[in-house]
Amino acid sequence: MINRLFKVAIIGAGIGKNHLNAFNTQLDRFSVKYICDLDVDKANRLISNNNTKITEDYEEVLNDDEVDLIDICLPPDLHFEYVKKALEAGKHAICEKPLAGSLEEVDQLIKISKKTKKNIYPVFQYRFGKGTKQLNLLIESGLAGKPFVASLETYWNRDSNYYDVEWRGTWKGERGGAILGHAIHIHDLLTMIFGDIFSVYAKLSTRVNNIEVEDCAALSIQMQNGSLVTSSITLGAANDTSRLKFSFENLTATSGNSPYKPAEDTWSFEARKPNDQKKIDEVIGNVGNISSGYAGLFNEIANNLEGKKSNEVDLNDGRKSIEFVTAVYKSFNEDKNIILPIEKESIYYKSWIPKKYNKN
Ligand SMILES: NC(=O)c1ccc[n+]([C@@H]2O[C@H](COP(=O)([O-])OP(=O)(O)OC[C@H]3O[C@@H](n4cnc5c(N)ncnc54)[C@H](O)[C@@H]3O)[C@@H](O)[C@H]2O)c1
Repeated sequence: MINRLFKVAIIGAGIGKNHLNAFNTQLDRFSVKYICDLDVDKANRLISNNNTKITEDYEEVLNDDEVDLIDICLPPDLHFEYVKKALEAGKHAICEKPLAGSLEEVDQLIKISKKTKKNIYPVFQYRFGKGTKQLNLLIESGLAGKPFVASLETYWNRDSNYYDVEWRGTWKGERGGAILGHAIHIHDLLTMIFGDIFSVYAKLSTRVNNIEVEDCAALSIQMQNGSLVTSSITLGAANDTSRLKFSFENLTATSGNSPYKPAEDTWSFEARKPNDQKKIDEVIGNVGNISSGYAGLFNEIANNLEGKKSNEVDLNDGRKSIEFVTAVYKSFNEDKNIILPIEKESIYYKSWIPKKYNKN
């Protein structure tokens, strides 16, 4: 079957560069018509052909009838407004993490998506790769059994140069610290593998850099399936590693140390009863090389837009991620175990940003 070609506009030429590279691995499905950035020279440095236009004017992109899909790669404080404008102009939107700055904003986006019948695809590219596919198959086949515990490590290294970019490290621009900006990926992976979160108790601290937001955290999490999880986070590690370890009734699954592509790394799946190892090895051996990272995500988005069977990240996933972030900040501020959901009546539903920084 012939695939449809979707015309894309990438807004923001920072991480937008990685998005462009991923779209370019699927030229039969995506054609990048625009890169839009206020810094036109930066945008120009990304392209090597004449098919992609550079513009600093978002309105030009919105008014172009040929554009199907707008890919928001802007600083976090602009996500809500730019996604909203994309949908209201009749385009589908992809949005880098975090999807929005509050649950209230996410719910507004859900309403706008329903009204305009245009989709919003939050970005969680860490989901896509061989290791997570193998683990999901082991769970689905019943070989993993009851989930017991997991430990998650986001040990990354960010020095003061990283915070030279104006929006980073601030409540106004970044909207949060390591919880919202960095460990958001590992917590998304957690929910993909262990399901929904029941409660969280959070300790946060700013210990590494001179910034407004947290850069270290220790979380104690209980899942709805009863399993228990610890998540340890720092932006002051000697190098960058992400590590996930899941203990099930019948096996223990351990990722490698790849910081930004954990699903693409080689995982170990070790049976508790040696006799089970053969069956486990058979299941994981059946997973070949699959499209991973951003390319894996965009491939699923194209499948979804074409009405094919798809495994994209959806608004429900995006909402869960923002609800968990909200619960973490509430837990830290109130020094309490927080049971989800966060109700609409909670002040945290509108914003988790400390009052003195929350002047819109
Ligand atoms: N999924 C991931 O692994 C991942 C990795 C890095 C960053 N991100 C996310 O991507 C987003 C962007 O991060 P970044 O590191 O690329 O930031 P960045 O500051 O490097 O790049 C953002 C770009 O947006 C441009 N810009 C700012 N305001 C604009 C406007 N109004 N119109 C057009 N262009 C504008 C800037 O000139 C800049 O080039 C953030 O939300 C960040 O959290 C995600």
